[in-house]
Amino acid sequence: PLNHIDPSKLKITRTASPKEMPSLETLKFGRNFTDHMLTVEWSLENGWEAPEIKPYGPLQLAPSAMVFHYAQCLFEGLKAYRNKAGKITLFRPELNMARMNRSAERIALPTFDGDALLECMKQLIKLEKNWIPQLDGYSLYIRPVLIGTQESIGISPPNRAMLCVILSPVGPYYPDGFKPVALHGTTEFIRAAPGGTGAYKIGANYAQGLHPQKWAAQLGYVQNLWLSGPEHYLTEVGTMNLFVAFRQPDGTIELVTPPLDGMILPGVTRDSVLSLARSHASGSISIDGLQSKLVVNERAVTMPEVREAVQAGRLIEMFGSGTAAIVSPIDKIGYMGQDIIIPVESDGMGPVSRPLWKELVGRQTGVIPSDWSYVV
Ligand code: COI
Repeated sequence: PLNHIDPSKLKITRTASPKEMPSLETLKFGRNFTDHMLTVEWSLENGWEAPEIKPYGPLQLAPSAMVFHYAQCLFEGLKAYRNKAGKITLFRPELNMARMNRSAERIALPTFDGDALLECMKQLIKLEKNWIPQLDGYSLYIRPVLIGTQESIGISPPNRAMLCVILSPVGPYYPDGFKPVALHGTTEFIRAAPGGTGAYKIGANYAQGLHPQKWAAQLGYVQNLWLSGPEHYLTEVGTMNLFVAFRQPDGTIELVTPPLDGMILPGVTRDSVLSLARSHASGSISIDGLQSKLVVNERAVTMPEVREAVQAGRLIEMFGSGTAAIVSPIDKIGYMGQDIIIPVESDGMGPVSRPLWKELVGRQTGVIPSDWSYVV
């Protein structure tokens, strides 16, 4: 089939000049890269060529390559962990492969066999295993990217493409403990629209978010809270999914995230938080410190609902979820000229996010065994 990638044809060329791992305290997210990368070229005539692992370095692309003109670019993000015994694991990587294929289809780039790519990625990660720090909170961030490379400024689905995977050692997103962020409830710009590309991990979604983020920064906020429609539905926060915890009148805690309606990126962390919260809600896992009854809902939430809940003292907490930061607490929302204060506890977290974060990190690093863990 045309989407076939053949891991048995993988060609490996090792670098002649390996780099030093930078000292861990100086790591800044996404700034350091390992010695090697994986590339796979595609053409309409021949499908996927033999995959290659070669020294990390510049790509040769024509200035007419379509990606430079029409943003034919999509990416993924996941992490590799190495425990004290040297065992290397990924976290639910099949979800990244499936999403990457959905993104490819949405912007007319070639799809591929996700298991085969994962097999090649395993080889790359094994080769670079010494770049995975064995320290709590550290991991190797894996960045697959797929671009259209046909030399043409005519607009059409490309007949040439390149898939590339690079690796970046990363430390804890909040090295000094959780630091809650202040959001600008953004009504002047939108991140996504019905029928648009918001549910796909394509580069263009992130490019269009940078100017609004600068605007939010000028107003004194860290990130955009992306609102949608005249109702001001909450959708996402910065580049993360969003959770809100309400205290319902009967004392129940309701954990809410917006539904996957086509405007929401189907995050792996989002799905994992939902799943853990649901298994707690059903009593199949117990989470220390979360004694109240918990219900979990994927439903629409508006800013007026959030504002009313804050005024009534019924808003427990709000947080973003993503692969990079895992959980990112929120302490303030600037909305329609007013600052709404969101509760956070002294460690920067809240009673719902804290235990869920612990449960999640345990499964990511393998400290808590689970079938989400994928051995490299
Ligand atoms: C996330 O992990 O939260 C992301 O969206 C990736 C980010 C670096 C663009």
